[in-house]
Amino acid sequence: MKRIYLDNAATSWPKPAEVYDAVDRWQRENGAPSGRGAYDSAAATDKLVLDARRAVAQLLGASEPNRIVFTLNGTDALHLAIQGLIKPGDHVVTTVVEHNSVLRPLRQLADGRGVAVAHVGCDAEGIVSAEKVIAALNSKTKFVVVAHASNVTGALQPISEIGAELQKRGVTFVVDAAQTLGEIPLSVDELHCDLLTAPGHKGLLGPLGTGVLYVRPGVEERMMSIRTGGTGTESSSLKAPTQMPVKFEAGNLNVPGIVGLGAGVRWLAERGVAALREQAIRQTERLLDGLVGLKGLRIVGPQGAQRRVGMVSLVVEGYDPQEAAAVLATSYGIETRAGLHCAPLMHKALGTADAGGTLRLSLGPLTTDAEIDAALGALRDLVAAT
Ligand SMILES: Cc1ncc(COP(=O)(O)O)c(C=O)c1O
Repeated sequence: MKRIYLDNAATSWPKPAEVYDAVDRWQRENGAPSGRGAYDSAAATDKLVLDARRAVAQLLGASEPNRIVFTLNGTDALHLAIQGLIKPGDHVVTTVVEHNSVLRPLRQLADGRGVAVAHVGCDAEGIVSAEKVIAALNSKTKFVVVAHASNVTGALQPISEIGAELQKRGVTFVVDAAQTLGEIPLSVDELHCDLLTAPGHKGLLGPLGTGVLYVRPGVEERMMSIRTGGTGTESSSLKAPTQMPVKFEAGNLNVPGIVGLGAGVRWLAERGVAALREQAIRQTERLLDGLVGLKGLRIVGPQGAQRRVGMVSLVVEGYDPQEAAAVLATSYGIETRAGLHCAPLMHKALGTADAGGTLRLSLGPLTTDAEIDAALGALRDLVAAT
């Protein structure tokens, strides 16, 4: 049975061959640390890390490569942003759309450090309104954090609109672009965000264990770094350096991951994110068109493919989502993700929490039309059997 991977919202697979080759070549032929040596292989590593930083900076429209901090994953980037900005007694505005990587650190801060958190609701399609986000601000609001797209429905949120309003009011804006960076064309200026976080292993096509944090010039001055230690620079001082990006990058970098991430982002740039977005819209429409009208299936989230990234969440009547995913995997080789997707408030708002969540199919740039048709055939069999 051929493996059909439709869990790209968790992590993308397969990656372009260039990513595997870059990691393999660096591991075998170089292997020297970054920012710590004056010999040739260390200089070559430094150049590869800078190339990766530059590629990510160009992709999201950052002014300079040093605005990009490399992190362990999307969660780690969010931690650097959230913990770096917060002080006891602050107020934070977020939404019910968020992933636990936002909800849980905020809950911990609310429980332990007297931080107040407002969770703005969404409409029936899982979309928040900019007016409601702005209405939730108060004089103590330190920052607003919102996901660019839901990882349950794929619904795109009105980030530019929210960002423009926050910029007028001078409120810091953190955007969780876990489901959009590399998947839709975006620029940090158009989104009006101060900080943007993303895994390197989803839309950016890098290996697992990579992530990125964009920091707008000047914002780092009002952030503490939760990560201090050896940086290979200013070693005589017991104080951590304050310049970007080392302020947030103590310890040896995940160079094999970063080299692979650089190759992934260059692959995206060569093809063009806009062209890949067109492909994702076309393939999501193919999936949605094949599902619409199937008795026993309910599609959750916005209608059509234009207002969502390449994913579809389903309620399959007569099946627990885990059971449906297990049948797809064992009988058809189709790998999907069932359950609450680490987004419990989103499922609650959509009315899908009590039934165990949804079955999510998510596409990547290397997903084929034949794989989508195979998934449609399997889902048709599934509902016919109930
Ligand atoms: C919306 C959203 N934010 C944050 C994350 C966390 O990313 P990571 O798994 O790389 O920590 C995810 C992962 O699924 C996500 O979907």
